[in-house]
Amino acid sequence: MTAELLNGREIAKDYRAGLQEEVEKLKTQGVVPNLTVVIVGNDGASLSYVRSKNKAAEKIGMESAIVHLPEETSEDEVLQKIDELNNDDSVSGILVQVPLPEQVDENKVLEAIAPHKDVDGFSPVNIGRLYTGQRTFVPCTPLGIMELLKHTGSLEGKTVAVVGRSHIVGQPVAKLLTNENATVTLMHSRTKDMVAQLKNFEVVVSAVGKPGLISGKDLKEGAIVIDVGNTVVDDKLVGDVDFESAKEVASYITPVPGGVGPLTITMVLNNTLLAAKWHNGFE
Ligand code: GUN
Repeated sequence: MTAELLNGREIAKDYRAGLQEEVEKLKTQGVVPNLTVVIVGNDGASLSYVRSKNKAAEKIGMESAIVHLPEETSEDEVLQKIDELNNDDSVSGILVQVPLPEQVDENKVLEAIAPHKDVDGFSPVNIGRLYTGQRTFVPCTPLGIMELLKHTGSLEGKTVAVVGRSHIVGQPVAKLLTNENATVTLMHSRTKDMVAQLKNFEVVVSAVGKPGLISGKDLKEGAIVIDVGNTVVDDKLVGDVDFESAKEVASYITPVPGGVGPLTITMVLNNTLLAAKWHNGFE
């Protein structure tokens, strides 16, 4: 079998066109969505993600700003900046790029973001709302994965292996998949014979960051493969899955780059639009 490509760039383009229309409508009602991205330090990959989010927001008619703080910024200074943005009425959504430098406690910073502006859905209040089924901001990569999976049919009753248990991807996507009535197994570095077990699953979502972790021989015939890995090797972005061998076995597969990445950014925009709408009393 040669798998159908889940083209993240195409799917994201269509989705963003819909968002742009909604942004324009909201602007005619006097509300301009604004995404403000905070980055501390000069990590090259993080800076590039932040610039992409900023550009993507402006492209669909939102306002966007980057607050770039130096590597040596103290925790108090970061918290002060968050407080300022929380109280700035022109800012709809705040996103703090992680990881943060070691002198800054990530949990303290994420907890400081006002829940109604937390477009990443990383604050404890919003995580709690997700797990109790309330309206909230769902983390962007998991939301993007679910959007890609919509293009493969229903997840009801499907067996899904989620590889990686991070707070950003593995754990929230396991919850979203469960909401769609999939049967989810959350695998991680201590799972016994992890790769050998994958052959039993109809869907594999890999979010580890280990190039070549999974290849075609490890997959069930007709599996749906979502590769969330994004590791830079020799200046190139590579996923966890060996694409060439996997595409011969899978029914659907995401490329890296051009798979999950564009959907993550799209969902930042989606959540910023929701923040602007909800805060101004629109549904
Ligand atoms: N670092 C890696 N992924 C993400 C993300 O989705 N949001 C933020 N804020 N930081 C990240």
